[in-house]
Amino acid sequence: MTIPNKKAQGTFAEKVGDYCVKDISLAKEGRLLIDWAESRMPVLMGLREKYSKTKPFAGYKIAGCLHVTKETAVLIETLAEAGAEVYWSGCNPLSTNDAVAAALAEKGIHIFAWYANHEDFYWCIERTIDAKPHLTLDDGCDLIDTVHEKYKELANNHIIGGSEETTTGVHRLRARAAAGQLFYPVYAVNDAETKWDFDNVYGTGQSTLDGIIRATSVLLAGKNFVTAGHGHCGSGVAKRAKAMGSNTIITEISAVAALKGWLEGHEVMTMDEAAKVGDIFCTATGVKDIIVKRHFESMKDGAIVCNTGHYDSEINIDDLKSISKSNRTIRPNCEEYVLADGRRIYLLAEGRLINLAAAEGHPSEVMDMSFANQFMAHLSLIERYKSGENIPIEVMEIPPSQDENVASTKLEMMNLKIDALTEEQIRYINDYNAGT
Ligand code: ADE
Repeated sequence: MTIPNKKAQGTFAEKVGDYCVKDISLAKEGRLLIDWAESRMPVLMGLREKYSKTKPFAGYKIAGCLHVTKETAVLIETLAEAGAEVYWSGCNPLSTNDAVAAALAEKGIHIFAWYANHEDFYWCIERTIDAKPHLTLDDGCDLIDTVHEKYKELANNHIIGGSEETTTGVHRLRARAAAGQLFYPVYAVNDAETKWDFDNVYGTGQSTLDGIIRATSVLLAGKNFVTAGHGHCGSGVAKRAKAMGSNTIITEISAVAALKGWLEGHEVMTMDEAAKVGDIFCTATGVKDIIVKRHFESMKDGAIVCNTGHYDSEINIDDLKSISKSNRTIRPNCEEYVLADGRRIYLLAEGRLINLAAAEGHPSEVMDMSFANQFMAHLSLIERYKSGENIPIEVMEIPPSQDENVASTKLEMMNLKIDALTEEQIRYINDYNAGT
């Protein structure tokens, strides 16, 4: 295998064939982080306990391309304990926790990931494909895309199925399916209710503010906080910013989403208007060029700009560079750009996911549900395959029964009880004659 020259980026482990991480000596620190996450992920740990006995994935290889965090480590080790041989890469250059990656490598996971891996990002993905995986697990569709474009034989004749974690990835996946270019079935895990109604809203809301605070340490109260996009993720960010005392402004392209935001108490305006008054800007749209040159040109001195969408295309950084006379890193993940007239604009985390680049991503408690869904999606793929089913090649929804299962287990683990309908109530809601 050709190994790129990593000397400039840090020390790499000697066993590059099995893994490639920044510093294997960080394994002890990473293990503590994983232990902490495990203690907050009871649904996934319950699945681990159950399936480590039956090992449904024995004999099968899973390649994953998803942020290497302490929560992802709990998913990876659960898949491994359920019998899978696991190969993994990060899905964003700035989201790998190097200590977690080291702990996984030490445990025998074939992991190819390190923080600030811009240059060899796809090299890492391809090392996981070298293993000829039977299942793929994506966040953003880069693994699926690489397999489909460069390893067609594997995609067509070897891979059983896959899953996709995020909204942007599901959009990409549906576009591929619509173009007749999807070669194996993929579960849209993002679209499970117990994923996107929780992870996208409460996870993104909290972790995005966490990232902004860690990168800047600014006071949020009293600031004009502009969120671009009021979907699940954007609404979570705006909700939390409001709770911290910010004057919240949202920008939207959907009239329905804008109206919902207005009734939540946020101001609604275009980005052209918001650019003039905002103190902090956060993009959460999944669309490119949300903040461009004319917006930077009208911003106030000291404006802070960041993104929490999957890709780094929402803020046009080339535009910012083109109108800046100088720039410097003023704090980790905080770059100061000085415009010709002396105004300063602060770009966080190179316009990449602020919550993972500058903080630790979503809290374990929400990732518990997202990753329980991931595990169950893969379990379903392998069980359907083993039963001889010819799984249709399409983007598949998570069945409502799985959502119900994840939600009720989560409630049970928190010792929360809910009511049940009586026989009489069931009769009532099913009776078309029951009226005034
Ligand atoms: N995406 C957002 N937060 C995450 C986390 N903590 N782990 C993995 N993926 C994430």
